[in-house]
Amino acid sequence: MKHLIFAGNWKMNHAPADAAAFVRDFLAHYQRMKDRTIILFPPALTLPAVVHGLKERNDIQIGVQNIHWEDKGAFTGENSAAIARGAGAKYALVGHSERRHLFGETDAETRKKVGAAFRAGLIPVLCVGETLIQRERGETNDVVLRQLRAGIEGLDGQHVSQMVVAYEPVWAIGTGKNATPTDANDVHTVLRDTLRQATERVGGVPILYGGSVSLANVQALVSQPEVDGVLVGGASLDAGGWHSMVTTKQG
Ligand code: PGA
Repeated sequence: MKHLIFAGNWKMNHAPADAAAFVRDFLAHYQRMKDRTIILFPPALTLPAVVHGLKERNDIQIGVQNIHWEDKGAFTGENSAAIARGAGAKYALVGHSERRHLFGETDAETRKKVGAAFRAGLIPVLCVGETLIQRERGETNDVVLRQLRAGIEGLDGQHVSQMVVAYEPVWAIGTGKNATPTDANDVHTVLRDTLRQATERVGGVPILYGGSVSLANVQALVSQPEVDGVLVGGASLDAGGWHSMVTTKQG
């Protein structure tokens, strides 16, 4: 049996009171499952409410959706990795497609954020994924490998082996379209080869699939040999639906 990761990216949803209600509802039903880790990525200002609600439930981890690449300074509106860590985050999403495409984040900035996360003791979850045009041109593998290599550039194998990678095709995010489980598995296999070379280890780095993951497709996705879990946006917002998602049986 694999160890699975179910990560919920709330994006810009759930004010602190909604998050507190979500956590109460979810904890009322969810019993720890040893074969999986759950990570919630609330908005930064909502994170303390989630930390407070989870209390001693260390089987459920918390992350931030974004960090700045500098450790501190005059960057109005930004949060550093150390601030996130101090607030209770253990993980940080880096290079999410919305950051890349809506906010113009580059591969070089993404790489700096990976470094900033490690300096503060956060685990970076590096997101990669191709656009529809790139997929149609047959460039998927080139694009995701470029993003992966840029994201881990200069890191030693030990650091790379502590990361999490998420493959999220841009055309599948929030659209209801998703990669077929075998398409996802194929891309994961390509990513896995590069990660294996970088870490000089077999296995190691968990690779999540994201993009319109739902109750209808989650089991087929996590049953793929190279899929170690899912990064879920829309379908992570409702506590009952999220409970059904994270208790999906391994195939
Ligand atoms: P979605 O988002 O599940 O709503 O498609 C996934 C993500 O952006 O992480």
